[in-house]
Amino acid sequence: TDGTSTQDVILAIDQGTSSSRAMLFDRNGVVLAQAQQELACTYPQTGWVEQDAEALWLSVLTVCREVLAQADSLQLKVCGIGITNQRETTLLWRRDSGDVVAPAIVWQDRRTLAYCQQLQQRGHQAWVSRRTGLCLDPYFSASKLNWLLQDPALRLAAEQGELAFGTVDSFILWRLTRGLVHATDTTNASRTLLFGIQQLQWDAELLELFDIPAQILPQVRQSADDYGRTDPHWFGRELPIVALAGDQQAAAIGQGCVRAGGLKSTYGTGCFALLNTGEHLLQSNHQLLSTVACTVQGQTQYALEGSIFVAGAAVKWLRDQLGLIKDAAETETLAASLTDNGGVYLVPAFTGLGAPYWRPELKAQWSGLTLGTGKAQLARAVLEAVAYQTADLLQAMRADGAALLSLQVDGGMVNNSWFCQFLANVLDINVMRPLQTETTAFGVALLAGIQLGWYADLDALPDLVRAESWFYPNLSAGQRAELLAGWQRAVAQLLATEN
Ligand code: G3P
Repeated sequence: TDGTSTQDVILAIDQGTSSSRAMLFDRNGVVLAQAQQELACTYPQTGWVEQDAEALWLSVLTVCREVLAQADSLQLKVCGIGITNQRETTLLWRRDSGDVVAPAIVWQDRRTLAYCQQLQQRGHQAWVSRRTGLCLDPYFSASKLNWLLQDPALRLAAEQGELAFGTVDSFILWRLTRGLVHATDTTNASRTLLFGIQQLQWDAELLELFDIPAQILPQVRQSADDYGRTDPHWFGRELPIVALAGDQQAAAIGQGCVRAGGLKSTYGTGCFALLNTGEHLLQSNHQLLSTVACTVQGQTQYALEGSIFVAGAAVKWLRDQLGLIKDAAETETLAASLTDNGGVYLVPAFTGLGAPYWRPELKAQWSGLTLGTGKAQLARAVLEAVAYQTADLLQAMRADGAALLSLQVDGGMVNNSWFCQFLANVLDINVMRPLQTETTAFGVALLAGIQLGWYADLDALPDLVRAESWFYPNLSAGQRAELLAGWQRAVAQLLATEN
């Protein structure tokens, strides 16, 4: 270059459960700079999972500042920002000062279990799931928000319009615009249990059920939309914020799953498989969720979702709580060192079981341990469990009438090729790992690119996705059936013992 030319980039902010990231993407989807900071969870009581909202915000600010400094030295021009985030996590803050009134209640938090069970017992499940596509589980935001508003002082403040509620996207947006914009997008709204996913509006009857005053809610916009500008206080410049999307929906877009039939599964802290069902809202008869896939250029697409609460989190548990491995990559060598699983199974219900079981009260359980069981068997059982859970989700999708052609995978765990091959084997489906495995950040950058006019529409996006490798099933039907039967026995055992 002549030293003066600049290149246009988009800044993607990916605020996940375990870390915050910022990445700069050019028009071809190439990453030109990135920064990452880990973020901790705390577990103040059994079943509670919280995050320090100020630490979360600071981590976002830090990674953004880092990549913006890199942008300056590389002479890159940041044209817009896209924000993607861990979904459902619930925040409440004061409109005057922007101060949060409590720690963020993380999506994995189970404190509202009894409350959700009561609502079920009172017969609310059917109509709530028809309106929202979700079920009465502590996973979603509404019961968490209801819990926060049990505090009489907070309820009064909420009713007087002094408080703002948001999921992580809204919170970051509110902070970046210094209180000018209190908004969210349809994908994030669709995870609250307060949003009608056909009408694409907050639902008055759901607000009444959960006792939530409407004045605390953010305004709902499209996933690619005008979200205002960053206050110059943060980065010394005003940058337009042009896209917002929940991380799983963003990952589907980053995989090019933008039309009916596209199927992806992301292995982060948890695992979330999304099947795009196009403009058609498909209600599951097999315990999957229906959710908004995105709203772009006035059109909304839907997805069937299978949510598993623990995937990478179990690998992290092996590393941090048990100290069995130094890093996640070690599980690949350990698993591959064995010819079979030795009959060892883990049902990783560390924070209850999500789809298709929805049993939030369960705890994890090992089975088949002998004195011969070593860390290789334990590590392998963790990886296998994530694959079996994915098999449960795909089976439910098929039972709902979906024709599944292949599965596109991403997230930290898919760097493990043993895992990808095992996944193909138990699912009996071809598995594609893309070149760009940071699909979450990539997806929201693509949405931002549509809003900026870089790409004409969603149909232009799949061309930007490249496969890195394919994994083909290479297991006999008998062996597959045997593995799955072992898993089903282990699950049945757990479902029975805790009753
Ligand atoms: O629904 C929760 C999900 O959005 C969390 O994603 O990447 O933190 O596992 P992740």
